[in-house]
Amino acid sequence: MTDFATVGAAYAAHSRSARGRLRHDLVARRVLTELPDRPVRVLDAGCGDGEMLIRLAAAGHRVTGFDPPAEMLDTAARRIASRPGFAGRVRLVNADIGSFSCDGERFDAVCCHGVLMYLEDPAEAVGRLAGMVGPGGLLSLLTKNGAAVGVREAFRGEYETARELIESGTATSIGNLGLPTRGDDVAALDELASSHGLTPLAWQGVRIFHDHPEDWGPTPAEYAAALETEWAASSRDPYRQLGRMVHTLARREVAGSPT
Ligand SMILES: C[S@@+](CC[C@H](N)C(=O)[O-])C[C@H]1O[C@@H](n2cnc3c(N)ncnc32)[C@H](O)[C@@H]1O
Repeated sequence: MTDFATVGAAYAAHSRSARGRLRHDLVARRVLTELPDRPVRVLDAGCGDGEMLIRLAAAGHRVTGFDPPAEMLDTAARRIASRPGFAGRVRLVNADIGSFSCDGERFDAVCCHGVLMYLEDPAEAVGRLAGMVGPGGLLSLLTKNGAAVGVREAFRGEYETARELIESGTATSIGNLGLPTRGDDVAALDELASSHGLTPLAWQGVRIFHDHPEDWGPTPAEYAAALETEWAASSRDPYRQLGRMVHTLARREVAGSPT
């Protein structure tokens, strides 16, 4: 398993870059759109240094986040401590998807963003996470797009690597942290969610046009325009199919409610 204790600083740097922010902004926008206006209970599985958790808590929700390395959680804890008003609404737990126990609690939303790509097989993890989604609740998964492996490399002019990836049809390539990451297939993720009693919602492709430029440094106005362009493309074919990541969502219907 990847040693995330040693890549925390690199991840934080990527996360705060324009490319990193683009992903957080797109994913948070969709998740917040799907959540009710009132405060609800959210689980952030593999919360890392707390970026999504902070956005959810800022929107008024009660958030539990867990992550395996203590170093990641320490960073999340420091970021949370600097925000007044979060203390009673945010809980951090040192665990991984296999060991986290919610003691029977069910959540209104379970998010797992940027984690599945580090696991050999997403099936068991998705099953565990789906089991923690309460009635009417949401499962939000963000992972690498297995169908678009090689696109980043081709746009960067790394043609030999790109061609090998494209011709081999592999779902694994090197990610932002210099580590191998495995891509997933939207249909397979939706099928997994369905097999655990959830109804898949429309999926989005994330970071379509701005995935490859490592040194992208837009002005605030350029960033805003880029974000809206990415948002427009994220739910439309064929653009979304080339997203570096896929954001799949599924909801557990309330028993007896009309569909
Ligand atoms: C790329 S970071 C994403 C962090 C955060 N979810 C985000 O979107 O910013 C991947 C995170 O997954 C965590 N992780 C890796 N394997 C995990 C597992 N089996 N269970 C839970 N978290 C895991 C890592 O510790 C790391 O914090």
